[in-house]
Amino acid sequence: MSTPTLDKEKCTACGLCAEVCGLDVITRNGDGYPIIDRAAYCHACGHCVAICPQNALAIREIGVDAFAPAPPATISSTDMEAFLLTKRSCREFKDRPVEKAVIEQLINVARMAPTSINCQERGFIVVTDAGKIAELRAALTNHVRSTLNLVRMATGKPASLFLAPDSQQHMRHLQADFEVALRHMDSGDDYLFHHAPCLIFFTGITIDPSGRDHALGAQHYLMLYAETLGLGTCINGYAQSAPKVLAKHLDVPKDHTVYGAVMLGYRKYTYQKYVHRKPALAVYYE
Ligand SMILES: Cc1cc2nc3c(=O)[nH]c(=O)nc-3n(C[C@H](O)[C@H](O)[C@H](O)COP(=O)(O)O)c2cc1C
Repeated sequence: MSTPTLDKEKCTACGLCAEVCGLDVITRNGDGYPIIDRAAYCHACGHCVAICPQNALAIREIGVDAFAPAPPATISSTDMEAFLLTKRSCREFKDRPVEKAVIEQLINVARMAPTSINCQERGFIVVTDAGKIAELRAALTNHVRSTLNLVRMATGKPASLFLAPDSQQHMRHLQADFEVALRHMDSGDDYLFHHAPCLIFFTGITIDPSGRDHALGAQHYLMLYAETLGLGTCINGYAQSAPKVLAKHLDVPKDHTVYGAVMLGYRKYTYQKYVHRKPALAVYYE
């Protein structure tokens, strides 16, 4: 539970705290002063503390130090656009480990990504140990191999006759991708992890319908922030689609599932041209 507290001496009844409180934990009385009610519903989002110009609000269980003044963000929309439109997946890494302090810096930012009811329930599993990376590589390669057998059954007759054309095409793409992956892996080429020196896995609560969102929100924060430190990342779909395999090889927190997996390392190359994508499939009600 979280308890917002008000220093009445400092409060000027500006009303900002009540305005930003999305849960009506803070409302206003007839004089415009805040009334803190329904504290049991407070998510400790800290909007009230962060907006108060008088520093009159605090959240008892968190303490004021957690809400240090933030310098104004200076990223222009042009810079942000250029950053996002040139960010590419990284599959070529320098032969250089990622320092633990840097990984901690990344996770410190990733943990700030939003979660439903501000639950902040997600975990990070960091693997830099070469032996563990090799173990995961072998386990996932085996998984791809057995999944490929199933995919081949689905693309062959008679099973394919029961699939819609879109699904048939999807399965054929999957088959081709898995076959390429295995050809590389069998010839000793690390197609799965691309020799990344670090793997980071993102977990969320299994029974929470938003567990996956919590993990992937953190994953994308980490991926974007990593770029600013000269690092590159690439999502690993082979790992993300095999949480049960990963659970056999990693200490996944109790009641959590691995939903996200990225390869991380110092970028060998940077790209000079913009990303190209299909036009957005967007619907507007105006
Ligand atoms: C869910 C998901 C899974 C992915 N899995 C892999 C993967 O296993 N290996 C890989 O090299 N890239 C993987 N990618 C990266 C995509 O191939 C990449 O984002 C896409 O080709 C566009 O390239 P860009 O990110 O450089 O713009 C994955 C991306 C997503 C979103």
